[in-house]
Amino acid sequence: MTAQTVQPGNTYLITGAAGFIGSRVAEMLLEAGNSVVGVDNFAPAYDVRLKEWRLQQLQKFPAFTYHQWDISDPDVVTAVFKKQAEQGRPFAAVINLAARAGVRASIENPAVYISTNINGTLNLLNACRDFGAKKLVTASTSSLYGEGLPAPYVESLNTERMLSPYAATKKAAEVLAYTYHYLYKIDITIFRYFTVYGPAGRPDMMPFKFIQRISEGRSIPVFGDGTQSRDFTYVDDIARGTILGLKPLGYEIFNLGSDQPVLLSDAISIIEKNVGKKAVIERFPRHPADVASTWANIEKAKSLLGWKPEVPFEQGIHNAVDWYNKNRSWASQIST
Ligand SMILES: NC(=O)c1ccc[n+]([C@@H]2O[C@H](COP(=O)([O-])OP(=O)(O)OC[C@H]3O[C@@H](n4cnc5c(N)ncnc54)[C@H](O)[C@@H]3O)[C@@H](O)[C@H]2O)c1
Repeated sequence: MTAQTVQPGNTYLITGAAGFIGSRVAEMLLEAGNSVVGVDNFAPAYDVRLKEWRLQQLQKFPAFTYHQWDISDPDVVTAVFKKQAEQGRPFAAVINLAARAGVRASIENPAVYISTNINGTLNLLNACRDFGAKKLVTASTSSLYGEGLPAPYVESLNTERMLSPYAATKKAAEVLAYTYHYLYKIDITIFRYFTVYGPAGRPDMMPFKFIQRISEGRSIPVFGDGTQSRDFTYVDDIARGTILGLKPLGYEIFNLGSDQPVLLSDAISIIEKNVGKKAVIERFPRHPADVASTWANIEKAKSLLGWKPEVPFEQGIHNAVDWYNKNRSWASQIST
């Protein structure tokens, strides 16, 4: 699959390589015969045991190199590119998946979101310009669509009324990236991901949290009445789409979503069925920064990238529960 989309033998820089999505993208590129330089600062946004587990999978590949570095430091970013240039193996592309993610946490500490999501992106753009890297793929979010726009959300909608500092930093990075495309002809692909889930997922997100808590007989917090919906998208579909975005495209923004929104209450039932236990639900008022629903229009990714999601929600949850059961001895201890 990946062999059709990228030529093997290239070297890619992946930031956020120990992260949920970054580690899967790295794994797919390595499996296709490429080299990957991974950078991650092991941000304490959630339990780093998950990052260690993901890194262990990547370190099985001899063509994987890892640096525990922070992309918000411009000298660090310059050093990564310089080292690669000195070895005569410039990056075929940069895939920026490092970020402070998470809507609610961004309200508590917006500054850290600005330094990684905006300054970090700026440092990578400067390095692409200075070291002649021609391609940058970078992650944005469905949170940009905020509330009140007609669904399914199409990329051309006016996204200026975001509900959280997280979404605002992602919008800033999108706009900044355009200026670098315009000024320096860097080819830039931006992906607005829709609620990504799967094995070794993020413990601050619903699927991991509910799988763990239901498995261990702990209550699950449900904000609102359960009628919110999310366009849950399986991590392998996201990683495959991200890799398809490595081809020259100019400057394009793509939604990557499943186009199959699932009600929160239905998602809970599917998790219960796969775990084999009933959930104990604790209800809380809906958080104002949480959007009521997300739904991706994915026609652009289908037509320009030849991408479509392949893993239905039931199958993806089955895989995530399977991963949890295999790693339960430590995954049950992760703070959710
Ligand atoms: N998971 C989702 O549902 C989702 C949805 C929309 C957008 N996104 C975006 O996709 C990208 C990847 O998200 P994820 O779900 O894999 O999150 P993640 O938190 O698992 O991965 C991000 C990684 O970046 C690292 N990082 C943070 N700050 C850094 C810094 N300054 N320098 C170097 N590394 C740093 C973290 O340690 C982490 O391992 C992010 O840009 C996120 O905003 C994710």
